[in-house]
Amino acid sequence: MDWNSTNKAEEKVALAIIKLPAVVSVTDPRYGGAILINPGGPGASGVNMVLEQGRRLQKIVDSQNTPLPVQASPTADDKYYDIIGFDPRGINNTTPQYECFTDPHSRQRWSLDNEFLDLLGSSTVATEQAWGRAMALGATCTRKDGPKIGRFMNTTPTVADIVEIIERLGEWRENTAEAIIASKVTLSEAQKQGNRDAARWKEDEELLQYWGFSYGAVLGATFAAMYPHRVKRLVLDGVCDSHIMYSGYSTANVLDTDKIMEKFFEICHQVGPEKCSFGSDNTVEEMRGTLDKTLASLNETPLVVPGSDTRGPDIITYSDVMRIIKESVYEALEKFPLLADVFTDVSHGNGSILADLKSADKIPICPSDNSEDGFKTCPPYKERFLETLASISCTDGEDRSGLTKQDFFDYYGVLKNQSRWMADIWASFTMPCWGWKNRPKWRYEGPIAGSPAHPILWIGNTLDPATPLRNAYKMALRFSGSAVLEQETAGHCTYSSDSKCTAENVRRYFHTGMLPSVGIRCRADKTPFGV
Ligand SMILES: *[C@@H]1O[C@H](CO)[C@@H](O)[C@H](O)[C@H]1NC(C)=O
Ligand SMILES: *[C@@H]1O[C@H](CO)[C@@H](O)[C@H](O)[C@H]1NC(C)=O
Ligand SMILES: *[C@@H]1O[C@H](CO)[C@@H](O)[C@H](O)[C@H]1NC(C)=O
Ligand SMILES: *[C@@H]1O[C@H](CO)[C@@H](O)[C@H](O)[C@H]1NC(C)=O
Repeated sequence: MDWNSTNKAEEKVALAIIKLPAVVSVTDPRYGGAILINPGGPGASGVNMVLEQGRRLQKIVDSQNTPLPVQASPTADDKYYDIIGFDPRGINNTTPQYECFTDPHSRQRWSLDNEFLDLLGSSTVATEQAWGRAMALGATCTRKDGPKIGRFMNTTPTVADIVEIIERLGEWRENTAEAIIASKVTLSEAQKQGNRDAARWKEDEELLQYWGFSYGAVLGATFAAMYPHRVKRLVLDGVCDSHIMYSGYSTANVLDTDKIMEKFFEICHQVGPEKCSFGSDNTVEEMRGTLDKTLASLNETPLVVPGSDTRGPDIITYSDVMRIIKESVYEALEKFPLLADVFTDVSHGNGSILADLKSADKIPICPSDNSEDGFKTCPPYKERFLETLASISCTDGEDRSGLTKQDFFDYYGVLKNQSRWMADIWASFTMPCWGWKNRPKWRYEGPIAGSPAHPILWIGNTLDPATPLRNAYKMALRFSGSAVLEQETAGHCTYSSDSKCTAENVRRYFHTGMLPSVGIRCRADKTPFGV
């Protein structure tokens, strides 16, 4: 748990790791090694990402030749990789889990309240309630007998965990190769030795191949700053400005968010009502006006939505619409058509589509039964994203626990200036930090910069709602030799749209180390509404 402890009896962390194995064995000359991934958050599960997206990622990085039959003379482009994900400290399957609530019922109730309560900024009452809840959560998570792992789950020890992972992988590679060699009686001594040399564990010198998304780019950049000599390949995709993030104020995240909403109106107008229901012959001005009017009215009076065969009664509030906008700008390609339908519906006083969406998202409430422990009959509610996100970002950032409420509201004001559509939600992510009394045991204080052994490939979307492209350029300047690839889409990280061009550049970089040419821009294979 504590990388700086010399006490062997010290509590330990057991990292949950998952591997999608390479399609060739470790002694095959085309074995490319392991690529570690991190899905961001902070606090998202790398195990889950490999389960859900591992094959897609492997398809991008692997050679496009089928592994069998073996090509007569494999080229540098014929490589196949293991894809490895891990749940960072405190997260999901990794133990000890970070838990601020003493029982799953209280967490579930708190989370349901979060969905029900109005967003910060929607009214004075809502803002005060949000602040109060953030302070209550902060005080709970950082109380004296609170979870100990909270002081050991910031990015710095997680970087040290990655070093440990690549060392153990090196050890595993050597042992696995040894077993394969022993089983192959036909190999000559020279071949055996060749296989052995190629697979040898280079103790304390193993190198990292990594693809990190969003906060995963902060993790990767911090690794490169702390262990520059261990960098073999780093693809940092959806880039945060690490320095600003470590300051504790996320003032370099929502700078392009509103441009995505502008894009929505433009495209909707362009494709017309056939494809975008909100477009119905209106100008962009008129659409914007209709949405503004609808939101203002909802903020006074919510829509009444009677229950149906498939869900109970509900109301649609200003906050509900703001939340669906947030979801949609992250995945413009997928969600714009739905967003149009929601706007159309809601602006006509009908909240049924949005109520259906809300209900599909709802955490199921377990019926209490008469047994002594009602949980046994129903899985405990496990989503701990709110606490883990706060714990990692509050301990990564500078201490804000002594600062005033006014300090938070000044920060919130800056965000409001940057984005009408995202400021409220973004500010609420880190609000608990103003009441966070834990400090991390080990926090890397050096600059997030340096000269890595191999240059970094930074990737940004033209319009990203949470990690604007400018951050990729800014971070690239801090690490010598870097290249930036721009993917011409709107959404968060490159996984929000497929791009053959991006895939080819990422693959070439992993295989050969070659960076794309300066100024490269990759188009997406598809665009929202098929425009
Ligand atoms: C913790 O250990 C690392 C090396 O493992 C060292 O670089 C760092 O300075 C130590 N930090 C503290 C607070 O002792
Ligand atoms: C945690 O990991 C499991 C797989 O072990 C996955 O099914 C689940 O969705 C993950 N939870 C989260 C919150 O990512
Ligand atoms: C509301 O919209 C839904 C879906 O668009 C539709 O099925 C329903 O009839 C509408 N309700 C009213 C009262 O117009
Ligand atoms: C918001 O922007 C305006 C105009 O650019 C500026 O005058 C004001 O100081 C800004 N407020 C904050 C809180 O950044």
